[in-house]
Amino acid sequence: MPIKYVPYYPETIEGQAILNNVTRTQRVLRYRDNNKVHDHIRRGMPYYELEKIERVGNNSENMLIRGECISACAYLKDKGIKVDLVYIDPPFASGADYAKKIYLRRNPKLAEKIAKTEEELDIEEFRIFEEKMYGDIWNKEDYLNWMYENLMAIKSVMSEIGSIYVHLDWHIGHYVKVLMDEVFGEDNFRNEIVWCYTGPSRQTNDFPDKHDVIYRYSRSESYIFNFEKIKIPYVKLNTGKTRGIFKGEATLSEEGKIPEDWWSDITPVARLHATELLNYQTQKPEALLERIIKASSNESMIVADFFGGSGVTAKVANDLNRKFIHVDVGINSIQTTRDRLIAAGAEFDIYDIKDGVSLFRNPIQTMDKLKSLIKGLNAEPTLDSFWIGAINDSKIGLVPVYVPNLLDNGTKVLDIPMINSIINGAIPDLPDSVKKVIIYYVDIENEKDLNKFINDYNKTDMQIELRDLKEILDEAVINDEVDYELKKINNRFEIEFKSFISDRLIQNIDAYNQKKLLNSSISNLFNESIEGDGENGDVTKNKKPFKPIEISESGLELIELISLDCSNFSGVWKSDIELKIDKNGFIILNGKKTKELWNGKIISDKKPLRMKVRNIAGDESIIIF
Ligand SMILES: C[S@@+](CC[C@H](N)C(=O)[O-])C[C@H]1O[C@@H](n2cnc3c(N)ncnc32)[C@H](O)[C@@H]1O
Repeated sequence: MPIKYVPYYPETIEGQAILNNVTRTQRVLRYRDNNKVHDHIRRGMPYYELEKIERVGNNSENMLIRGECISACAYLKDKGIKVDLVYIDPPFASGADYAKKIYLRRNPKLAEKIAKTEEELDIEEFRIFEEKMYGDIWNKEDYLNWMYENLMAIKSVMSEIGSIYVHLDWHIGHYVKVLMDEVFGEDNFRNEIVWCYTGPSRQTNDFPDKHDVIYRYSRSESYIFNFEKIKIPYVKLNTGKTRGIFKGEATLSEEGKIPEDWWSDITPVARLHATELLNYQTQKPEALLERIIKASSNESMIVADFFGGSGVTAKVANDLNRKFIHVDVGINSIQTTRDRLIAAGAEFDIYDIKDGVSLFRNPIQTMDKLKSLIKGLNAEPTLDSFWIGAINDSKIGLVPVYVPNLLDNGTKVLDIPMINSIINGAIPDLPDSVKKVIIYYVDIENEKDLNKFINDYNKTDMQIELRDLKEILDEAVINDEVDYELKKINNRFEIEFKSFISDRLIQNIDAYNQKKLLNSSISNLFNESIEGDGENGDVTKNKKPFKPIEISESGLELIELISLDCSNFSGVWKSDIELKIDKNGFIILNGKKTKELWNGKIISDKKPLRMKVRNIAGDESIIIF
């Protein structure tokens, strides 16, 4: 499909200081031909096809969108949808990879044998492994370029009375503040909120980092600020006096005051030990969003989070009778939020943006996987990091391979500026012996123009082969295998699960076991050498040896959710009955927690037409009856 670009507001505000060392400008400057400048930023947001995949209830104004922030904004802009409040908590450029703990469930065959009390579920029995969710390792320049595009995209879909809150920390916050001044205008800066918290910290020679920053900007001078709705109580002192009432402030209300721009009264989720805690790293507390949403929106307005994670914004917006739009690039986020919202009784539609990166749950896992999907590809340390590796061709020797970085929207489309930088930047640095390179792309702007450009400007006799990355991704999907029996008993339909085989999970669990075993044998070696070495020796002796995770023959412990659609054979999914198995093996039926352990069955009054089975890592398989 040819790519359509939806423009956003192109101009920076006159007189505004800008961060000048960001790739956005360099990239444009690299290609000037006959006074023609190819301006990447001005072209706008890539618009991809969007598929509605599920309907929950009847409120189509509430949306969950799997895809990148920038592509979701292109869709909203194209449809003329404006949002009134944006909260984003994007990756912080923290230098970390975020992982999700994956819990193997209780096998129902074994669960039958144990008593149905929570106490008997020994926490030690949990079998857990980890999978990567998203990466947050950036160089500053790439990050800021990416963030600039996201902010421009978001601004283009904000209503005139809209506000935006951008949640960051010391890693990159101050640079993003400068970008926000540029994009939204310094005059529209409203607050730098400091969210302070306490918690364990590593002992260092520095003050522990215990605050995040949240930049608040408005779209224009008229914006919503409901100070009456967010007042907090004054603190009564032992002396009987009330602390915090100063002249002027007291006139607002005797009952309470507007919180200052530093918030120390909101506890991070990890320390709440609350029912709120989901298995989603970086999850923010509902109380934080409650304050923001109450302050800067009114009932029925649209609240959007373009880096939605565990769905905190959507959940609180729904609780407060606002409409919500939740966007996230990871399938785990969409599933976690979907289940969270169903439990909260929300109604919404789920969409998938067809941007070609969803195969392995999220871009980071897809990137990891890609290396093994390109036949003959090997790491090639003699090449610089632009190339993912090289294929050794028996006739022409080393063929360097370039693959776009799926974590960086800017590299996914192969266009003239990109091919130009490959011809004039990357290729001249290759050894003379190289005769051919392979360039993969997710989307290509115009193949004919690109080939003409290559012919006109490639002054070497190097062959440049262009390949579509989606083709190798498409070939690599191996669905999970579900073996079941469907019976009609007393006018009800019963599906009994016999076995479940997931190649994707088996491979990931094997890789995890091997990594852990290797680590534990290395640490065993280390322990031996320091045995009797005072305190260290004592500590390490207590460590339990790693027990590899095994999967039973039936594999039913790999199932997380079963949903039956009794309304349609195809098209948008409608879950008429669904059963989720929590990490203790208890059933959550249609979003409601129960104390029942899963018995390996699902029963429906209506005739099921198709069934969706989600495995514990989030892959979904659909069976049509
Ligand atoms: C810090 S987390 C958000 C956590 C969230 N506030 C919560 O309370 O659960 C950042 C999220 O951004 C998502 N993400 C990363 N890059 C993205 C992009 N380009 N577009 C949309 N989402 C993205 C990640 O998958 C991750 O879920």
